[in-house]
Amino acid sequence: MNILVTGCCGFIGTNFVRFVLKERPDWKIVNIDALTYAGNSENLRDVEGNPHYGFFKGDITDETDICGAGNLLSGNPDAIVHFAAESHVDNSIKNPGVFIRTNVEGTLKLLKYAKEKNARFLQVSTDEVYGTLGQTGYFTEDTPLAPNSPYSASKAGADFLVRAWHETYKLDTVITRCSNNYGPYQFPEKLIPLAVTNLMQGKKIPVYGKGLNIRDWLHVEDHCRGILLALEKGEAGRVYNIGGNNEWKNIDIAKELVKIMGMDEDKIEFVTDRLGHDLRYAIDATRIRKELGWEPKYTFGTGLPETVKWYKENENWWKPLKDRLQAR
Ligand SMILES: NC(=O)c1ccc[n+]([C@@H]2O[C@H](COP(=O)([O-])OP(=O)(O)OC[C@H]3O[C@@H](n4cnc5c(N)ncnc54)[C@H](O)[C@@H]3O)[C@@H](O)[C@H]2O)c1
Repeated sequence: MNILVTGCCGFIGTNFVRFVLKERPDWKIVNIDALTYAGNSENLRDVEGNPHYGFFKGDITDETDICGAGNLLSGNPDAIVHFAAESHVDNSIKNPGVFIRTNVEGTLKLLKYAKEKNARFLQVSTDEVYGTLGQTGYFTEDTPLAPNSPYSASKAGADFLVRAWHETYKLDTVITRCSNNYGPYQFPEKLIPLAVTNLMQGKKIPVYGKGLNIRDWLHVEDHCRGILLALEKGEAGRVYNIGGNNEWKNIDIAKELVKIMGMDEDKIEFVTDRLGHDLRYAIDATRIRKELGWEPKYTFGTGLPETVKWYKENENWWKPLKDRLQAR
């Protein structure tokens, strides 16, 4: 397979490239990434010499850049796997415009390119497009989309475009919608790396409101395995939810991290809640489990301490990013 992947200097894309180079060593992968504040060219520096990997610095809202990246493949792409996005909800509340540009317009440009090249299009989406749940129930693929933040609205807009390209132009598309990811290479603005790195720097973990919001956490490698399965075996036009039935209140994650780091709960501080903060996300992943045979390999019991260890051992990776973030 020849695949064009977008946004792989970010968290999940980086892990996906590493996963595919290991699991499908004969594939050729080209990564297009604009290297926004969330992209880090160091993430994949060590695979740059691999003849199965290529990098093109470019913007997915620019058709010339998309073609330039595609031309690095030998022949037409068989598939496009689309990770590139503005992904931080707090930023979307402050500056929604760039989310519409990248997440909606960028997806439109890529869909047009996929159609021209007759390539399968895999849209990496999020459970946040479904909106919020009360204390019970789960998101299934049939749950109506009801996004509440500018971020999730822009991802839902992109998902609708993907659906339209399948229905109208018969493009071979697949959408995956995953719950919150954690693991190595996550930008230190997101809860788990922010918490671990703050503790390492002698700072506190900021928890929104009373910390009662519930998220369903999945290790990034389990997400990558699901994406690869959906790419290879997913039915055209179908949506697959990915989640590990691992619901945690934010306050309990903070307490768990403090425990793993051998510190006290006075290292947790409550801060003003996020506007429009969704209460609970929880994924029903029955479809991908039954139809494609997906199973998560990690539990929080194994994945969380391993992730903490990774951030402890890779201060050289996160420190410059955090310094840059604080200077913004
Ligand atoms: N992180 C999660 O928990 C999670 C969960 C479910 C789905 N997702 C989805 O997975 C995808 C990847 O998420 P992530 O956490 O790795 O994001 P990230 O913010 O870590 O990385 C995004 C990457 O996209 C690149 N990018 C941004 N705008 C671009 C543009 N205009 N052109 C080219 N590249 C651009 C950035 O430079 C960065 O490398 C996103 O589409 C997100 O919606 C994320």
